[in-house]
Amino acid sequence: MQINITQRYGLPIPNDTALEHMCSLVRYIIQHIDVSGGWMPFDRYMKLALYASGLGYYSNSTVKFGHSPDDGSDFITASELTPLFAQTFAKPVAEILNATNTSHVVEFGAGTGKFASVLLRTLDELGIECTRYTIIELSDTLRERQHKYIAETAERFIPCVQWVNTIPERVDGVIVGNEVLDAMPVRIFARQDSLWYERGVSVIDASRFVFADRPLIPALIPATLAYVPNEHDYVTETHEAATKFVYTVCSALGRGAALFVDYGFPAAEYYHPQRTEGTLMCHYQHHAHSDPFLYPGLQDITAHVQFSAIKQAARIAGAHLLGYTSQAHFLINAGITDLLMQLDPTDSVRFLPKANIVQKLLSESEMGELFKVIAFCRGFDARLAAFKGGDRSHTL
Ligand SMILES: C[S@@+](CC[C@H](N)C(=O)[O-])C[C@H]1O[C@@H](n2cnc3c(N)ncnc32)[C@H](O)[C@@H]1O
Repeated sequence: MQINITQRYGLPIPNDTALEHMCSLVRYIIQHIDVSGGWMPFDRYMKLALYASGLGYYSNSTVKFGHSPDDGSDFITASELTPLFAQTFAKPVAEILNATNTSHVVEFGAGTGKFASVLLRTLDELGIECTRYTIIELSDTLRERQHKYIAETAERFIPCVQWVNTIPERVDGVIVGNEVLDAMPVRIFARQDSLWYERGVSVIDASRFVFADRPLIPALIPATLAYVPNEHDYVTETHEAATKFVYTVCSALGRGAALFVDYGFPAAEYYHPQRTEGTLMCHYQHHAHSDPFLYPGLQDITAHVQFSAIKQAARIAGAHLLGYTSQAHFLINAGITDLLMQLDPTDSVRFLPKANIVQKLLSESEMGELFKVIAFCRGFDARLAAFKGGDRSHTL
């Protein structure tokens, strides 16, 4: 296959090995599109681009998480930015384990293992027993990375950590997932001249992916698109994979709670009149752009989360909303600033970088407002301190 790479969006061009890898994935996806008659819905493309065995972005050995392109990474998450994130998270986790008299934590998509390592150590410092820490990880390379990191930084907890492919039938305890919902495949829909189309993927020149729209009969238009304002042409996403996932997770909850952190909005804000191009975003070497066909397998592809749909899925599964708020409110309520103040502010060399990172997590113009925390419970009823101020459940 001949793929001509020219520099686009000012992004760096991948090296030859990476391009070879990308070509293997492109060939693999093209085979699937051919078998499907020349078109596939976008969620199938996104699933293959991110999770195709050994080839997809999260299944291959690219670096992914890190601080800058210099370490080969593409983006950074709150768990990676600072241990203060997981240390703060430990408080509501401890509260739930105590209230439910359970000792099991389940983490979805554990990244480099940093969140798990810090959470396990902090729970221990708080005197909270965590006898089982289950990581549900789709990627073999990330499992290895997590195992290595936890063994190096929290060795004595390794015997209680287990890696599995799917959620246990019943979970009594706490389920957590940071930036997991945004990594789930979305379908794309476009409205043009008042008609709805499903936006899928086709191939041109035997090697290039392009968007291709298929008309939708009214009976097949997803109900959630009723939120889309009527005035003008519009492109947006729906979140079948994430809602099914939350339904499954909440159905498995016996006595306990599930907490998810991610960027996104309630339906009314998600399908805002001015958000006419949707929320699809790609990350490559710390550059953000909106072209999911640029470097398949080498770049992350994400979409913002539609939290009203997430709440509805949880409710249908029989779980109750514990709270929904901004990341800033959640972390402040859970005591992140108290943790920061335990450091010596006069030791500016150590204190200032940490204060800057906390500012990034909390600031309205960075992660504090766009990122939200949503939590569901089953089998127990309590109010979490982390949702005491600034709860926005009424917006969902
Ligand atoms: C953006 S990364 C976040 C990683 C980590 N939680 C962090 O905060 O650094 C998204 C992760 O979600 C994982 N993921 C997506 N769908 C999943 C699923 N159904 N089950 C488990 N993990 C999933 C991906 O494999 C990936 O590791």
